[in-house]
Amino acid sequence: MDFSVEIYKIIEGALKHDDDKVINYTKLMIDNLIKCNNIRQAKMLEKVISNSTFKKNQIITNNIINIPLDKESRLPIADVFYPNQLIDEVIYLNEENQQNVNTFIEYYNSRNEIFKEGYQIPNSILLFGPPGTGKTKLAKYLCSKIQLPLVVARLDGVISSYLGSTAKNIRQLFDFAQRVPCILFLDEFDAIAKVRDDEHELGELKRVVNSLLQNIDSLNNGSIIIAATNHENLLDPAVWRRFGFKLKIDVPNEKSRFELIKYFLNDNYFYKKYCNQLNILFKNFSGADIEEIIKKSKIDAIVYKTNLTASIISNHYFQFLSMRNLIDLSPNDKDSTNIKIKFLRDLDSKLFSYATIGDFVDKSKSYVSSVLNESDGDN
Ligand SMILES: Nc1ncnc2c1ncn2[C@@H]1O[C@H](COP(=O)(O)OP(=O)(O)OP(=O)(O)O)[C@@H](O)[C@H]1O
Ligand SMILES: [Mg+2]
Repeated sequence: MDFSVEIYKIIEGALKHDDDKVINYTKLMIDNLIKCNNIRQAKMLEKVISNSTFKKNQIITNNIINIPLDKESRLPIADVFYPNQLIDEVIYLNEENQQNVNTFIEYYNSRNEIFKEGYQIPNSILLFGPPGTGKTKLAKYLCSKIQLPLVVARLDGVISSYLGSTAKNIRQLFDFAQRVPCILFLDEFDAIAKVRDDEHELGELKRVVNSLLQNIDSLNNGSIIIAATNHENLLDPAVWRRFGFKLKIDVPNEKSRFELIKYFLNDNYFYKKYCNQLNILFKNFSGADIEEIIKKSKIDAIVYKTNLTASIISNHYFQFLSMRNLIDLSPNDKDSTNIKIKFLRDLDSKLFSYATIGDFVDKSKSYVSSVLNESDGDN
C-alpha cells in the first residue's frame, strides 16, 4: 500500500502547526498499516502519537470525534457513525447504480496511485430520488466500505433562526471535513434552497455552499462529501455541477425488489412460495415502504403467535394502500375482502390464482371463485 497522500497531509499539517491534521492522518496511516499487516510500523507510529503532546481529541476510526456546536443552541450540528457500528450494512441498488458505487469505492481505494500520477479522484456524490429509496442507507454502506466515519448533518438542524448562523454552521462542517478525514453527509440538501424567504440569507447560503464545494474538490484530503435530496429540481445548477458523481436513487427495479423482499423476509419458506406475487404487489414501492409492511407483519405474527402468512402481509399491504388513499376499502369486512380479492386478481390473473388469492385474504378457493363470479375452473 502506498501512503503518499497521508505523508503529504502529515507534512502539510506539521508545517501549518495543525495538530489535528497531523494526528488524524497518522491515525489513518496506522489503520492502513494494520490492514496490510505492517503491525510493527503501526505500533511505532502509535508510540510516537501517544508520546507526543498533540491534542488527542479527534481520532478517526473508532473513537470520539468532537463535532462543532451550533453557537446559539450549543447543540452538535451533526451526528457521527463509525465504520465499526455499520459493518452489517447492505444495500440493494439497480445494476447501474451499484456499478457506479463500486467504481467510486475502487477509485477511493486507488487514490494514492491516482494522486501519484497527478490526478485527483472525484470526492463528492449527489444522491437524488424519492423518499425511502436508500440514500441515507447508501451513505452508511459507503462508511462501512471506505472505513471513514460518517458525519451526518441534518441541514434542518444546521439551519439556525439567526441571520448568518446557518452559513457559519455549514462553513464549520466543511472546515471540519477538511481537517478530519470523514464522509460528510449533507442530508436534505435542498433545505439550503428553501431555507426561508429571506433573500439575503438564501443568497449567502448558496454562495457559501458553492465556494466550499469548490474548495473540497480542490483539496482532496481524503474526505468525501455526499449530499442527498428528494427535490433535485430545487438545487442551484451551479451546485449541481460540483458533484463528481450524481446518482438517481429510484424505487427498486424488479431485480432489486426481489432482493429486498428476500432480505426483509429472511429468505424463509414464505418468500420462496410467493416471491413472484410479492414482487408484483410491491411494484413501485420504495425499499422503506416494503420494509415497513413486512416488519409490521412480522410483529403481528409474533404478537398473535402465528406463522407469517400471506394474509398477514396483505392485511398490512392494504392498510398501507388505504392510508395513502390508493384504495377505497369498505368499512364492512365482507365487502372489503371482496374489494381485495378483485384488486389482487386485477394485478395479475395468472400469478393470483383463486387458491393464491385465498391465501392472501384468508378465504377458501371456492369463496374467491364465487366472488369473482367466474364459472371456469382455476388451476
Ligand atoms: N435500496 C435499498 N437497499 C436496502 N435497504 C433499503 C433500500 N431502500 C430502502 N431501504 C430500507 O429503508 C430504510 C430507509 O431508507 P433510507 O433512509 O436510506 O431512505 P432515503 O432515500 O434516505 O429516504 P429520505 O429521502 O426520506 O431521506 C433503510 O434503513 C432500509 O432499511
Ligand atoms: Mg435519507
